[in-house]
Amino acid sequence: MGGAKVAVSFYDLYTNATLAAMTGSTPYGRIEHGALAVEGDRIAWVGPEADLPPEIDRAVQQRRDAGGAWITPGLIDCHTHLVHGGSRAREFERRLQGVTYEEIARKGGGIISTVAATREADEASLLRQSAPRLQSLLAEGITTVEIKSGYGLDMETELRMLRVARKLGEQFPVRVRTTFLGAHALPAEYKDRPDDYIDFVCREVMPRAAAEGLADFVDVFCERIAFSPAQTERVFQAAQQLGLPVKVHAEQLSDMNGAALASRYNALSADHLEHLSEDGVRAMAESGTTAVLLPGAFYFLKDDQKPPVDLLRKHGVPMAVSTDMNPGSSPAGSLLLMLNMACIFFSLTPEEALSGVTRNAARALGLSDRLGTLEAGKIADFVLWDIAEPAELAYRFGFNPCVGLIKNGELIHREVLKPKLHP
Ligand code: NIG
Ligand code: FE
Repeated sequence: MGGAKVAVSFYDLYTNATLAAMTGSTPYGRIEHGALAVEGDRIAWVGPEADLPPEIDRAVQQRRDAGGAWITPGLIDCHTHLVHGGSRAREFERRLQGVTYEEIARKGGGIISTVAATREADEASLLRQSAPRLQSLLAEGITTVEIKSGYGLDMETELRMLRVARKLGEQFPVRVRTTFLGAHALPAEYKDRPDDYIDFVCREVMPRAAAEGLADFVDVFCERIAFSPAQTERVFQAAQQLGLPVKVHAEQLSDMNGAALASRYNALSADHLEHLSEDGVRAMAESGTTAVLLPGAFYFLKDDQKPPVDLLRKHGVPMAVSTDMNPGSSPAGSLLLMLNMACIFFSLTPEEALSGVTRNAARALGLSDRLGTLEAGKIADFVLWDIAEPAELAYRFGFNPCVGLIKNGELIHREVLKPKLHP
């Protein structure tokens, strides 16, 4: 016998769609009468249907009529704390009576109260509590989510949180990236000994999380109610030794130059940034660090200091947008709502907001080579939307026009073939 093996490709072809490829020179990377060919888990071809190469056309095994829907890249929520125990609804009531977030934190409430609830929850309970939070994101076309630890602050619970995050990625059709945030707050057992706690984080917990393959990134809350720049830097050094990229919660309540510090460690992202200075912006621009804007936390804490969006634009710092889903500062279950808030509160354009949950969110997770845009060679994660134009994703709030979800080339929602369209 011995005939040479011929590689045969088969494609799933999505047609009758308008594409927001989020790349190229047109707004949103818009492609009218678009088609998208998928081969395995990859995008094989994207463009106007009329230009579809005949060799792809001949090898289509499955044709899917998108019914005129818009297609965007799969959404990416690049900053969440969605694995945690309990709720902080009572704290919310106290804040409404005038007690501030910082006062609550200083009196041992805030993050520390979630630590107690998380330590109490075993793995099954944490999974059960976290799954619906994840599901509310998935319903809106999220195909990748970042999940942080940081409500354990001890060896066992930090690892448990990360394990639960990984498990969620196995149980749901979503790509999970995990972040070790052992330096989120000072646990009571280390009261007045923050440097000893940082030692413990750097020498014991982080190496173990890394050795067990549980952490993709390392994050620190650099803030006057959390850790100083010197302590933050020690965590970055330990991360660097383990080969883990860093991120930072910085300039949320005050300017501690945390973003500039993180930039010196080539941070993938600096997040929050309401109090960021122009020097901080410059440092981020030089290191290519993405600014992750969290309008849910800004809103929920009734902040009045906005992140310096004009300066970020001026210096060409890419901006991502995320829910920051967490029980204290942003109990938000909707990334689409964050698009609206990013426009209203931070004056992003709807296109910038959508870039913030696609292309720039991919950057914030170091995944730009694989995700964030509709381009041949990238992973076939994309969403079908029942909208007339892409600005609608940011314009409406409280609506969910997601009518189809494709993850790794696989169709997740069946109703995709018959989206209900606007007239
Ligand atoms: O991103 N800033 C620090 N951490 C979280 C809030 C955590 C909490 O209050 O539970 C945030 O806002
Ligand atoms: Fe956060």
